[in-house]
Amino acid sequence: MPPSVISKRIAILGSTGSIGSQTLAVIEVLNRAGHTFSVVALAAGKNLELLAAQAQRFQPKLLALERAKDLSRLRQLLKTFWTGEIVVGGEGLQAVATYPEADLVVNALVGAAGLIPTLEALKAKKTVALANKESLVIGGHLVQASLDVHLGQSEAGQGVRSRRSLVPIDSEHSALFQLLHSLRRDEIERVIVTASGGPFRTRPLDSFAQITVEEALQHPTWQMGKRITIDSATLVNKAFEVIEAHWLFELPYEKISVLIHPQSIVHGLVEVRDGSILAHLSTTDMKRPIQYALTYPERVPSPGERLDLVKQRLEFAPVGRERYPAFWLVCEAGRRGGTFPAVANAADEVLVQRFLNREISFLGIARGLERVLAEHTGVPDPTLEEILEADRWARQRARALTPNLLS
Ligand SMILES: NC(=O)c1ccc[n+]([C@@H]2O[C@H](COP(=O)([O-])OP(=O)(O)OC[C@H]3O[C@@H](n4cnc5c(N)ncnc54)[C@H](OP(=O)(O)O)[C@@H]3O)[C@@H](O)[C@H]2O)c1
Repeated sequence: MPPSVISKRIAILGSTGSIGSQTLAVIEVLNRAGHTFSVVALAAGKNLELLAAQAQRFQPKLLALERAKDLSRLRQLLKTFWTGEIVVGGEGLQAVATYPEADLVVNALVGAAGLIPTLEALKAKKTVALANKESLVIGGHLVQASLDVHLGQSEAGQGVRSRRSLVPIDSEHSALFQLLHSLRRDEIERVIVTASGGPFRTRPLDSFAQITVEEALQHPTWQMGKRITIDSATLVNKAFEVIEAHWLFELPYEKISVLIHPQSIVHGLVEVRDGSILAHLSTTDMKRPIQYALTYPERVPSPGERLDLVKQRLEFAPVGRERYPAFWLVCEAGRRGGTFPAVANAADEVLVQRFLNREISFLGIARGLERVLAEHTGVPDPTLEEILEADRWARQRARALTPNLLS
């Protein structure tokens, strides 16, 4: 039976970014296929030209931007073709996250700024399509406490608890989300998240001190924003994904493994009780998991390139401790819990920016993380304010580390 027409009203946080722009592109494709997705609210940071172009094309009713000082420039760019409401700063993010007419809120913000809008959208009973992994990394327990609808036993007669009000966009979590659907909790031995290994998977370790910004920004398989690209080279992104999987699927850390898989064809695997391993495979195209999150629980045709299995070679390897020290540090921060993941995220954000500014070396990212995490006294089960305070403290510590410590 052909799928029926899907009609949804979408709000997008971070519409001008890599995931945000791809979400709009997927919406256009879905509408060309006869579905009726409307874009009701958009929030962006500083890219006013792109936000104005998106407003012209999609005619949302509400726009949000980061800085009040950009308001008049945005109005100039919008001219007369868009005359709706514009809200700025945190209030703007909140207005988009809770926009009454939105059925689905796509959170494609980058960094810790994504947590409060996720919590607000959930509080307003929205379904959230979550790309902003930092929401779960720094405030997983708060996000979990805000969810009230469980998939699994109640909905599909299955035992795996996953959440209907949160649909992952991250390709690995989308893969696991799809695989876990058909399983009972007691059938799952472990989940495996795959990592491409980044651009330095085979580079001689003794040349890591010479890694340049340009080299680190060359991701072998994915086109992404700058922070996540550097985090993919250090594998910090993968450690964040482990923490994300822990909260999203309510799995203990012992049941979550990571394997390097350079081809990025297998996005997630689940090993079940009888020793079978179930896998999710697709091409490296974020539009597919974005589409799945937009149309969920329906699955509709996608124009994306199909995987030609005959041309694939699949390799897997463990994550080396010497090559990826930052990965292990952040996984440990996840296991320690409390404010440690927030500190890891904030320190990493600052250190990645310092690397991109050419103030510190590539190796300095892991060194800086190690120092800031070692200095931190964790707060167990933190409140939102304690998380934000730990975030501020870690940023300030990571900024204060002298470049010679991080060379
Ligand atoms: N890119 C991928 O392929 C990919 C894959 C999986 C998961 N993710 C996750 O998805 C999230 C987004 O990644 P991305 O690569 O799309 O990032 P990105 O390209 O850097 O985009 C970030 C978006 O957030 C906006 N923004 C940042 N700070 C803001 C603020 N304070 N107020 C309002 N808007 C703000 C930016 O606006 P301006 O650009 O206008 O300043 C931009 O629209 C991250 O958590 C990432 O880990 C990304």
